Amino acid sequence: MKRVKIKDKEFEVSITSETILERVHAVAEEINKDMEGKTPLFLIVLNGAFMFAADLMKEITIPCELSFVKLASYEGVLSTGKVKEVIGLNVDISNRDVIIVEDIVDTGKTMHQMLATLSIRNPKSIKICSLFLKPDKLEEDVKVDYCCFSIPNDFIVGYGLDYDQLGRNLKEVYTLVQG
Ligand code: IMP
Ligand code: MG
Repeated sequence: MKRVKIKDKEFEVSITSETILERVHAVAEEINKDMEGKTPLFLIVLNGAFMFAADLMKEITIPCELSFVKLASYEGVLSTGKVKEVIGLNVDISNRDVIIVEDIVDTGKTMHQMLATLSIRNPKSIKICSLFLKPDKLEEDVKVDYCCFSIPNDFIVGYGLDYDQLGRNLKEVYTLVQG
């Protein structure tokens, strides 16, 4: 199995480029069907979702708009966990069918917070489209409406996902080799 070394860690290919594209296309078809007659607004979460979004959007055939947001992490003064603020949201989402495009939902804290931020702006609907979901790690009540892959609790890189900002450019997905 093909391996890469990123900094101090070894990773091994776990999902090939062909398999990723097959699933991304299937999810795009699901969205095309569900959203027929609507003009959804895709909110793409940078940096992690950039490659996924590029491949997904090429297969979306219904009229749509897209916009990019980033999540800035900072340590909350009173909270123990990291607080993430949505930045770059410069479109009016009121009365829009919003589809968030994310790389991975892990504990679900990020999406939980993003849903809270968006829902006060009166969208018509909000759906989450995530490339990956780690169901065993989910702590929040977050529903992933469109998911390409449910994966175990291993750390992965590639196809947009990083290890210490590295590995986003890899076209396959790699899993950390333990030990
Ligand atoms: P959550 O708030 O715990 O759901 O975390 C989601 C964020 O954690 C993702 O957007 C990623 O940036 C990061 N993340 C979680 N698991 C992985 C992984 O296996 N590889 C790379 N990044 C990950
Ligand atoms: Mg992310």
